Amino acid sequence: MTEEIEMKVTKIRNGTVIDHIPNGRALSVLKLLGLTGKEGLTIALVMNVKSKKIGIKDVVKVENLELEPSLVSRLALIAPTATINIIRDYKVYEKRKIILQDVIENILKCTNPTCISRQTNEPIISKFKVISKNPLKLQCMYCNRYLLENEIISQITEGGG
Ligand code: CTP
Ligand code: ZN
Repeated sequence: MTEEIEMKVTKIRNGTVIDHIPNGRALSVLKLLGLTGKEGLTIALVMNVKSKKIGIKDVVKVENLELEPSLVSRLALIAPTATINIIRDYKVYEKRKIILQDVIENILKCTNPTCISRQTNEPIISKFKVISKNPLKLQCMYCNRYLLENEIISQITEGGG
């Protein structure tokens, strides 16, 4: 049955398959990758399919694209359960499980305007401790302000941080 559901979207020849994305996040993932469809790349989005690993998942397949490593740490914040599969000549050439670090540095912005990490005259990068993974909850290591999942996703997809 799972096999049948998977086959709804054809296999790709070369490119990247981001699998096991939490359901509802496929569009955020595309946004993070900066893909609009106007690039001419072939893109397949699969939403709300059954997964043995995470219940219900989304999948994003992009032909002829390999992800910049710098994107992976941002992807971890919106799709911590994801697997990145690099496909070459129809085969899974490389499979990488995303890892959410315990401390998130220099990606997100603290929402407290008086936080020392927000002062333009201070050479201090933002640092958050991961308090909970699901739902994602972070805490600023300078001022202790919490940063919740919705805020994290909107910062990541708006390229802020
Ligand atoms: N895939 C694809 N095109 C290919 C090969 C694989 O689109 N030419 C997709 C598969 O549909 C799957 C993902 O890439 O969504 C990973 O493929 P594979 O490792 O074969 O699947 P699983 O063993 O189910 O992966 P996992 O163990 O990570 O769940
Ligand atoms: Zn702060």
